[in-house]
Amino acid sequence: MKRDTLPFYTMDNFVFDGKKVLLRVDINSPIDNAGNISDETRIRSHAETINELIDLGASVSILAHQGRPGDADFTTLEAHSKMLQKHVKAPLKYVDDLFGPTAREAIKSMNQGDVLLLENARFYSEENVEKVPEVQAKTFLVRYLAPLFSIYVNDAFATAHRGHPSLTGFPMVMPSAGGRLLEKEVEFLSTVSSGSSKPCIFVLGGGKVSDSVQLMETLLPTGMADKVLLTGMISHLFLIAQGKKVGRATLKIMEGKGLNSLLPRAESLLKKYGERIMTPVDVATLKSGARYETGLSGVGDDAPIYDVGEGTVSAYCEELKKAKTVMMRGPAGFIEDPRFTRGSEALLRCLVSTNAKSLLGGGHLRAISEKLGVADKIGYFSTGGGAFITFLSGEKMPALEVLITSAKKFKSDK
Ligand code: 3PG
Repeated sequence: MKRDTLPFYTMDNFVFDGKKVLLRVDINSPIDNAGNISDETRIRSHAETINELIDLGASVSILAHQGRPGDADFTTLEAHSKMLQKHVKAPLKYVDDLFGPTAREAIKSMNQGDVLLLENARFYSEENVEKVPEVQAKTFLVRYLAPLFSIYVNDAFATAHRGHPSLTGFPMVMPSAGGRLLEKEVEFLSTVSSGSSKPCIFVLGGGKVSDSVQLMETLLPTGMADKVLLTGMISHLFLIAQGKKVGRATLKIMEGKGLNSLLPRAESLLKKYGERIMTPVDVATLKSGARYETGLSGVGDDAPIYDVGEGTVSAYCEELKKAKTVMMRGPAGFIEDPRFTRGSEALLRCLVSTNAKSLLGGGHLRAISEKLGVADKIGYFSTGGGAFITFLSGEKMPALEVLITSAKKFKSDK
């Protein structure tokens, strides 16, 4: 078995010629207000793995997800298939079925070099439940699909922090490997996490508030983060926990998303590590149809907070100048609306003006960096948002752990 550094099989360990491969990717992408995919970074990033599998003589069936049930971006993968086709060298077929008769027939009739994209795995309820791999291996998804394939390849680094059946079930029942993108991410981030220079600052934003709170509960006690600078929705949670004014409109948004239940955890983090957690000193709200910047005391009850203000950017920029390593995940504001991209842009401009080693997670920040023309000054872009931070904070990643288990259970070809 050829495994120089990674504790699981990679694509180098298998012969793919004439084999049917089930490939899990993460093409979960930002969807704009009109329902279109607004950034194709993740879609593009899996092309190398897919094209290599085609070149090696495999047929490739692709398993992926988009959004979460109930969210506005929870959609079919039809539009993804069109974007993916632009980067894949063979004709790509899409079926709006996951493991039903249509999908199974389509898989059975595949020939060498064929590529098939299956439907959003999260349309199927068992996919949305985190359980141990032994349980996920018995789900219907795995029971129906596994017998149709010889090898499972996981290229979905960006969702490797989840314990869902499409990620952890298959490696329990069949020979499995990490794909090229997953391999690259794990290798690069391992080098970084073993030698990240201090002070190390985390800038957390974006929409996945409970994930970020959980990460702060690891990053702060372990000392991995010297400081955490908060933006976006998580900053509203901490402002509320500090007893600061965010206005009724923002409180209503927080309540609607069920985020108030996180308040005790935010309060506890502030109590223990308050001096290492920074929250906005000013914000941008939507007032009378326009961007309106104000200190917190001036936030109106009918004006939701959608970005950080200039004063916050300056204060955060001063901190970034002192850092040796900066990890940034998630945008600072509601960037789907062009009036609220300024905070994220200003923070990125500040970051590239410092000497800190910079690591960015998630598609949004990459898209903004490219638009600003500063992408080449960023040290590394990970396709992972939550996965990127989870990996760096040293927490276990279920989808990687199970690849290790699989390598112990099954022999590779080489
Ligand atoms: C991501 O965008 O971070 C991954 O696709 C995982 O998505 P999730 O947070 O909805 O599980």
